[in-house]
Amino acid sequence: MDIATTPITPDGNPELADAAPTPHEPPVIRREDYQPFPWLVPTTQLDFRLGLEATTVTATLQVERNPAAAASRELCLNGDSLTAQSVTVDGAPAEWRMDGPDLIVTLPGEAHSVTIVTRIDPSANTQLMGLYASNGMLCTQCESEGFRRITFFPDRPDVLSTYAVRMEGDANLFPILLCNGNRTNAGENGDGTHWAEWHDPWPKPSYLFALVAGDLVANSKPFVTVSGREVECNVWVRAEDLTRTDHALESLHRSMKWDEDVFGREYDLDLYNIVAVSDFNMGAMENKGLNVFNTKYVLADPDTATDADFDAVEGVIAHEYFHNWSGNRITCRDWFQLSLKEGFTVLRDQLFSQDMRGEAVKRIEDVRILRAAQFPEDSGPLAHPIRPDSYREISNFYTATVYNKGAEVIRMMRSMVGVERFRAGTDLYFDRHDGEAATCEDFIKAIEDGAGIDLAQFRRWYSQAGTPRVTVSQAVEGDTLKLTLKQTVPVTPGQPDKLPMPIPLRVAVHSRGQGALGEEQLIVLTDEEQSFSLPLTGPDPVVSINRGFTAPVVIERALQREDLVFLAAHDDDPFARSEALQELAVSHLVGTASGSLAAGEQAAGEAAIIGAFRSSLADNALDDAMRGELMVLPSETYLFEVMATGDRKADPGAIHTAREGLKAAIGTALADELNALHARASAVTLDDPAGRGARKVKTIALGLIAAADPARAAHLAAAQYDAADNMTDRQGALMVLCGLDGPEREAKLADFYARYRDNALVVDKWFTLQALSLHPDVIAHVRQLAEHPDFTMKNPNRVRSLHMAFAGNPKGFHKADGEGYRMVADVILALDPINPQTAARFVPALGRWRRIEPGRAALMKGELERIMAAGNLSRDTFEQVSRSLE
Ligand code: ARG
Ligand code: ZN
Repeated sequence: MDIATTPITPDGNPELADAAPTPHEPPVIRREDYQPFPWLVPTTQLDFRLGLEATTVTATLQVERNPAAAASRELCLNGDSLTAQSVTVDGAPAEWRMDGPDLIVTLPGEAHSVTIVTRIDPSANTQLMGLYASNGMLCTQCESEGFRRITFFPDRPDVLSTYAVRMEGDANLFPILLCNGNRTNAGENGDGTHWAEWHDPWPKPSYLFALVAGDLVANSKPFVTVSGREVECNVWVRAEDLTRTDHALESLHRSMKWDEDVFGREYDLDLYNIVAVSDFNMGAMENKGLNVFNTKYVLADPDTATDADFDAVEGVIAHEYFHNWSGNRITCRDWFQLSLKEGFTVLRDQLFSQDMRGEAVKRIEDVRILRAAQFPEDSGPLAHPIRPDSYREISNFYTATVYNKGAEVIRMMRSMVGVERFRAGTDLYFDRHDGEAATCEDFIKAIEDGAGIDLAQFRRWYSQAGTPRVTVSQAVEGDTLKLTLKQTVPVTPGQPDKLPMPIPLRVAVHSRGQGALGEEQLIVLTDEEQSFSLPLTGPDPVVSINRGFTAPVVIERALQREDLVFLAAHDDDPFARSEALQELAVSHLVGTASGSLAAGEQAAGEAAIIGAFRSSLADNALDDAMRGELMVLPSETYLFEVMATGDRKADPGAIHTAREGLKAAIGTALADELNALHARASAVTLDDPAGRGARKVKTIALGLIAAADPARAAHLAAAQYDAADNMTDRQGALMVLCGLDGPEREAKLADFYARYRDNALVVDKWFTLQALSLHPDVIAHVRQLAEHPDFTMKNPNRVRSLHMAFAGNPKGFHKADGEGYRMVADVILALDPINPQTAARFVPALGRWRRIEPGRAALMKGELERIMAAGNLSRDTFEQVSRSLE
């Protein structure tokens, strides 16, 4: 509880109140407590004297009373680890005091000019929030609450201000000085320092402020907007990285064009800067006119980046660009509305990537991510609605739920109204709320009004957590099929009672008897239980349901194996085809892992999966990109989810054994086909979609061969590695080798390191491949790698490349004796004082203990308790660990 709200004791005795101090717990912030800020800040002037170890910031805020808020004489300016050097109001010494980390100025009148001087040390900023040093340059990360680490300010997204910035610093250290908006002036001081002035004409919240100072070079190419305005586009990197920036720059141009074509959004400044930095907590940041990116999502060339890396660069560049409208022009009223910008922007970047590289494959990938990352969130102790109701540390809510489920929720609106009406809805939203700090409710209302749909019941998707389960049963009635659907929304922390939600499902009724495909239609399940009459196409009806994954739900049904095989081979919706194969594999693997398969079922299930794989390998109508998707078995994380239903707990060891067993069975039964595919794909070197598809199936085939015949796979992998002229093949070969024992493993790992030791992003891959490997000694390898001279806890990419990769290695992490859990808990404790945001991201892996079998669950819980007992935790880690133990 917050000090300010501690109730006074009944007799008002302060001694008594002090006698029972509450333990140090960060306060809970609640959505329902929102109040507008009492002051407006129409303009902000910032003056930076830049230095790596000491930067002086002079901030001048023009403030005036907010007529829409309750009046207050006090102006509360947020701070975090700041000390004010001076505070003046209208040029005279001010009346002010500190309230914890915040600074409170008392203002006598209606409008004032408040000037505050602070001094900060960017080189000591290991949290990488606020202004920090990275590789000799200075950069900022302000979302969500980093600006208050630079200067005292109303650091909340509903306070919009127009910024004018002056930066000054050493011309040798910082030849390039960048900020938001347009550069209005620059000059030399004649003493080795220089300066630049920047002005951003668009009012913005403080979280969108950014500054960069460093020795950088740009890859530049102008973009001409739909109305004919020329925009200077720059991708800024260190000189040695310049040759790897074309893909990012081209991706930016494609994004700008696509947003004009598909959402009618034109860029609104004459300059668009992207800067790559190697120390970054997240992927990238959409600061107005000055995006700051993790190098991982900028740099790419075929020698150092995989095809998947190229796609990720394109996707993240697009995401940040699209934020210019969904996030910047219209921002969030408060952080509970985060999905307003993130869910919508993820949907926009997904649709963009679908258009760039094919709808089906992208959709399958996105659903795989949702199931592996978001479903476990929704079923665990950290479950929250896409619009949360409370938090202690907002950084903990940059989650797959807010981002990816948030995108799915908006995608459902789009599916229900169709593309054109959805566009009318988003047009109205952009029009109605331009320049505002809006809410999720504003977005829903705009879609309702613009697209002409009633979303009253649909709003529950914003308030209820948990992945709905839909049970399906069917009966033939005359010449129709009666489909009965029943939905349940599971209980989640703090939400014991759930109401039914509208669940849009694209369905088709095929006929297995006739081999005929039925027509697709959209049905919307709104009640707890509801029946639908669908036309029959012929005998042996097979229902294809949730085609294209129209709703983020779990479908539960007992479909006959022949029906799934039929769908896997013949469904006209490629997503449904891959889904049928997944369903076959999931029920087989979960059945095997839980020992619940009847005699004969084991062999029959395996045979059906092998048969389906054989058909996809032989199906000439498939391209390799899609074939590859059909060859990916469900992830172990998703299998845990399915296995842990009702009272049944997930058994990671049994799931791993079952899954590896199935891989080996496929690899053995289809040895000839897989060898032929590997050989065929290795002969293709085209740098076009065919080449990409070939590279994808090549390594998947190699992985299946490895499960069946390790010696042969080691030989093939070494040859693939040696012949590779691109990172996709090289990394794929090394990945398979890492799981095997033998001289090829050591030789190729050493070669890879020697070849790329100067490229941090590729050295990250080297760490990851070893941390993710199937090798029995993976824990010992990770321990050794943590001592490697290239390892450091200070660089988030490096921490993720080793420790986060390991926490996502089901075999190593869930080692039965708990050594994996202990190692991850040690990482959390060591990292928390350095970079709490990144440390807290390791907690969910341990937090899943309740759904795991009792032996491991006790070990996982024990580690969480050990972290809690260590005390002195950051707000970030405290919140995640305490919620995981509740
Ligand atoms: N808004 C950024 C994005 O594009 C994410 C920034 C999150 N930063 C943070 N410190 N939590 O998704
Ligand atoms: Zn975003």
